Amino acid sequence: MKTEFLKITGNAEEDREIILSAAKVIKNGGLVAIPTETVYGLAGSALIRESAPKIFAAKGRPSDNPLIVHIAEPSDAERLAYTTPLYYSLAEKFMPGPLTMILKKKDIVPSTVTGGLDTVAIRCPAHPIAHELIKVSGHPIAAPSANRSGIPSPTRAEHVLEDMDGRIEMIIDGGECDIGLESTVIKLEENGCIILRPGAVTAEMLSEVCESVTISKAVIEPAIAAEIKAESPGMKYRHYAPSAEVILIDADDNTFEDYVRRNSDGKYGVLTSDDDAQKFSGAVVLSLGKKGDAREASKRLFNLLRQADEIHLEKVYAQLPEQDGEYLAYNNRLIRAAGCKIIKLGKK
Ligand code: TXA
Ligand code: MG
Repeated sequence: MKTEFLKITGNAEEDREIILSAAKVIKNGGLVAIPTETVYGLAGSALIRESAPKIFAAKGRPSDNPLIVHIAEPSDAERLAYTTPLYYSLAEKFMPGPLTMILKKKDIVPSTVTGGLDTVAIRCPAHPIAHELIKVSGHPIAAPSANRSGIPSPTRAEHVLEDMDGRIEMIIDGGECDIGLESTVIKLEENGCIILRPGAVTAEMLSEVCESVTISKAVIEPAIAAEIKAESPGMKYRHYAPSAEVILIDADDNTFEDYVRRNSDGKYGVLTSDDDAQKFSGAVVLSLGKKGDAREASKRLFNLLRQADEIHLEKVYAQLPEQDGEYLAYNNRLIRAAGCKIIKLGKK
């Protein structure tokens, strides 16, 4: 199949044409990759039974790993799922935005979308292109990240083209994604929630609305993530990994620097800040931005992991930041990129 690659220009008329032709693809049961504020999504109708299997096939993703359904307004969830008062309290604060809530599904959502589960993941994206496409097509949109399964999610349209050229009808290029890591996924309970996948909406932010916020063990304990049957099925697969080996070190700055220097063979890169870049003279520096800037590091991570492969690095060394709220999502992705292996050295 020929994949159309269409660039958003900022010219209202031209962009409208792009949305209209993308909406046509969706209504005909086809697939369009779209920008969202988190990562690029691989969009198909969440109401047409045949669309989800096409998404799984294009990604090479196991079909028991359910898809997120994207809606234009929080109240659009009524058609798809059984909402609760807590859903609306959270929606008021975090929708549109990078938060996905798991609710009990209604029959209208095909089981192909939810991997056979009786729940459905609902998200209301803030990106104008995603929002417009849902509105104009009149279909809620099932969309996983638009990468081939297992490798880093795409934060730029060129990444999608690398992975999906010839596999889907259309790619819309809306520039680089703002956040760079996927949405926070939560399961709702009576007055609280459980974080199944950390993202830009942090536990601290959620606790402004929820009486209790629990972080699923699979999120923070990598050994458990690798072994247990995770509540969020996506968490059980090796994920976000480039071909280069990611070597993740839990140590203070000096010990990390020392370790990298002692192991500096082959063509290797280091994920580090601009502030520390000059310490790693023999390495390709993969810059995370300013030291301690969790947002910038999150925005850059997937792009840097893809760059590592483009320039054929054999190894990428990375230091594990403190497990504080802001770095939780970054750490979670980095740990999975390293195949859940952490080398602990000395004290921090
Ligand atoms: O930011 C995002 O969420 C992006 C953009 C495109 O919206 N989408 C995304 O989708 O990351 P995906 O399919 O790559 O990840 C969805 C995650 C998976 O870990 C999946 O297992 C979990 O959400 N999930 C989906 N439906 C679920 C359900 N009913 N119960 C538990 N987990 C669910
Ligand atoms: Mg994904």
